[in-house]
Amino acid sequence: MKTVVSGIRPTGKLHLGNYFGAVRSFLEMQENYNAYFFIADIHSLTTHPTPEDLHGNVKQVLAEYLAMGLDPEKSTLFIQSDVPEISELYTIMNMNAYLGELERSASFKEKVKSQRNNVNAGLLTYPVLMAVDILVHKADFVPVGKDQEQHLEMTRTYAKRFNHMYKSEVFPEPQAYSHSGKLVKVPGLTNQGKMSKSGGENDAIFFDDDDKPTHKKIMRAVTDSGPEKPNQDKPEAIQNLFDLMSLVSDESTVATFDAAYNDCSIRYGDFKKQLSEDTLKFIAPIREKIRALKSDDAYLSKVAELGAEKARESARKTLEEVLQIIGFRKFY
Ligand code: ADP
Ligand code: TRP
Repeated sequence: MKTVVSGIRPTGKLHLGNYFGAVRSFLEMQENYNAYFFIADIHSLTTHPTPEDLHGNVKQVLAEYLAMGLDPEKSTLFIQSDVPEISELYTIMNMNAYLGELERSASFKEKVKSQRNNVNAGLLTYPVLMAVDILVHKADFVPVGKDQEQHLEMTRTYAKRFNHMYKSEVFPEPQAYSHSGKLVKVPGLTNQGKMSKSGGENDAIFFDDDDKPTHKKIMRAVTDSGPEKPNQDKPEAIQNLFDLMSLVSDESTVATFDAAYNDCSIRYGDFKKQLSEDTLKFIAPIREKIRALKSDDAYLSKVAELGAEKARESARKTLEEVLQIIGFRKFY
């Protein structure tokens, strides 16, 4: 059976982008793969969360994973810091990661700009830790959004480099996996690119928000003065709303509004109202589950413990192989 690994940093509530870019693939993959899904809490230290925020966000994402349908019996659902083997392999893999390539990573360059006062070494070696997350379980596939493509490429580089350096075949080269065959980019509501929790209050649609703020955000999304001639291309802002609609609405609903756009009869108010209605319908049952799970500490702790055990067993196996390969052989 092929193995799959993926993680999400616990930096706040999950949004539609996380669901369609990542978690939807997790749900599919847990059925047919040896699947490891985790909460990347060590990664989130790069932005220096307070201990309370860190703990609260890990709990939030754990409850959200479960509410969205991840099954701790089918897949291994764990918290990264519960698996110390990851940190150990990270120390080792850092020795084969070079400054030049790390500095060229798009996410590092972006962070150098966005958090100028906190360009810590963990940010620089983020791709190494991510590679270890994946390689420690010898993953064949990694379901992630398009933004993670470069990290996955670096993971393959580190896997190949290690194999080559030690003439071993310990690490497979993991490939991206995505729901539809191509990597998904869910647009945000403010047209700054992908939906993101760092895109400001009005950009992302969160599962754990009440209906009212979500409805308001959608109704506030910027449109234009409407199509001027039949069958014209849609400008980005409008296309983004159609893209969102195609995720949460029936095909026939999308087709109706598409036809209305093409014959210039579309009314954006109605269009956004429909988008809001369908979004809220999609979100509501998941939100209720999130809220129930967040108040069930006993269940969350059982899930985390089971996941930690299963993930450690797999990670320990790989780590022991690596220790042998590199020459850390016991004298006692
Ligand atoms: P954010 O950008 O809100 O901080 P993360 O970077 O924590 O989200 O993303 C977690 C996972 O969700 C990753 O696998 C990422 O590829 C996916 N993801 C996040 N936003 C989107 C999006 N707008 N479209 C597609 N996938 C996304
Ligand atoms: N870097 C990913 C993100 O920002 C999160 C992540 C960390 C991850 N380790 C991973 C994703 C391993 C897939 C596999 O979204």
